Amino acid sequence: MNTPSTILDAIPRRLHLQPDHPLLITRKLIESRFPGYKAHNDLFPIVTTVQNFDSLGFPPDHVGRNRTDTYYLNKSTVLRTHTSAHQADTFRKNESEGYLISADVYRRDAIDRSHYPVFHQMEGARTWDRSQAEKEGKSLAQVIWEDVDKIPKHNVEVEDPNPTNHPERNPLQSTHSAEEVEAIAAHLKRSLEDMVITIFNAAKSATDSTADAEPLKIRWVEAYFPFTSPSWELEVFWQGDWLEVLGSGVVSQPILNNASVPNRVGWAFGLGLERIAMLLYSIPDIRLFWSKDKRFLSQFSETAPIKRFVAFSKYPACFKDVSFWLSKNEGASAAGGKGAAPIHPPATTPSDSAPSTIVPPAAPAPTTPSFHENDVMEIAREVCGDLVEDVRLVDEFQHPKTGRKSVCYRVNYRSLERTLTNEETNELHERLRTLLVERLGVELR
Ligand code: PHE
Repeated sequence: MNTPSTILDAIPRRLHLQPDHPLLITRKLIESRFPGYKAHNDLFPIVTTVQNFDSLGFPPDHVGRNRTDTYYLNKSTVLRTHTSAHQADTFRKNESEGYLISADVYRRDAIDRSHYPVFHQMEGARTWDRSQAEKEGKSLAQVIWEDVDKIPKHNVEVEDPNPTNHPERNPLQSTHSAEEVEAIAAHLKRSLEDMVITIFNAAKSATDSTADAEPLKIRWVEAYFPFTSPSWELEVFWQGDWLEVLGSGVVSQPILNNASVPNRVGWAFGLGLERIAMLLYSIPDIRLFWSKDKRFLSQFSETAPIKRFVAFSKYPACFKDVSFWLSKNEGASAAGGKGAAPIHPPATTPSDSAPSTIVPPAAPAPTTPSFHENDVMEIAREVCGDLVEDVRLVDEFQHPKTGRKSVCYRVNYRSLERTLTNEETNELHERLRTLLVERLGVELR
């Protein structure tokens, strides 16, 4: 168990179901672009490690399984880290050709204005039945292309320079023909382009007052997920940068086979609702979604057109540093966190694609290093709640003789709702320092 009660307290909030909440409005806007897809918005966040990882083909040593990254309730039960945890069950129920799942998800992570340990994702999938196509005397690809024609057309510039599949970088699954994957990919890309263009046009009209604003640009890039192949991310050119908005791909066939629907094939995507809502409304800090302050909540309405969030006065920030020595045996590489491996590293071939060489069994899970940056983040959350805006590593130092490592974190204290007093921040910082020593066994400098 590594789940603090402050995290469990978020479970009943269900912000994606709260009337007039920006996450609900964003969810509904996305849902409106997937007519006929069945929406599941009520799935409970406590799942098994089988649902969250194994059913999706995560290898046993995947970093996502580490206690530093995931909230465990016991050895085999976690707070879901993504809505994909429900893919297998939803495919098994087989209630609709397309589905959408919106839900709260939980990850131990950095503290800053765009990361919060609880956030919301939307997952979607569309599958077709191969045997049904055959009964109709058509090829599967033909049936899918007919459905591609039903998707609304757009005239936004899309960069998509890569081939649909690439033997090394983005392989076809052995269970799919290249023709089928062309059709599935076209349906995936056109459906998701339609959705993203709708959202970003709404965001543009809410943010650009002038008509001569830059036209929308989007691009597809190759990606990797343990549960799709080939896989892509969709990026949008937004205020000068390419921004990743979703992950997607052709569903790994073993997931469908194990869910007792071996005749179905299709695609899936997942996205973060906060990130999209922040752009739609120009919301500057992810903590605001949890605010019960009327000055925040009163600005959003399901029936009014989307307009820019007007930040109420920005209260002063106050930063304080904390420096400490890591316990004796920590090497130079001990600090995990930001620079560490991404959530979905291209670590393995998808489990089904018959590899030409024998893949050795995955190495046993590495022993968890005793210091991980996410533990500092967790303690800061526990002590400060929403009064901490960000926590950053500002200095690292290794003693030339003893080899001991010292780190310095800068904690930025700021309330979104009021001015903090000096005493208050001093007290928070003292408690933080004490807990760092107690929990992590570090030595303050
Ligand atoms: N679950 C993935 C994530 O959290 C997103 C994803 C969903 C990617 C479905 C592909 C298909 O990053």
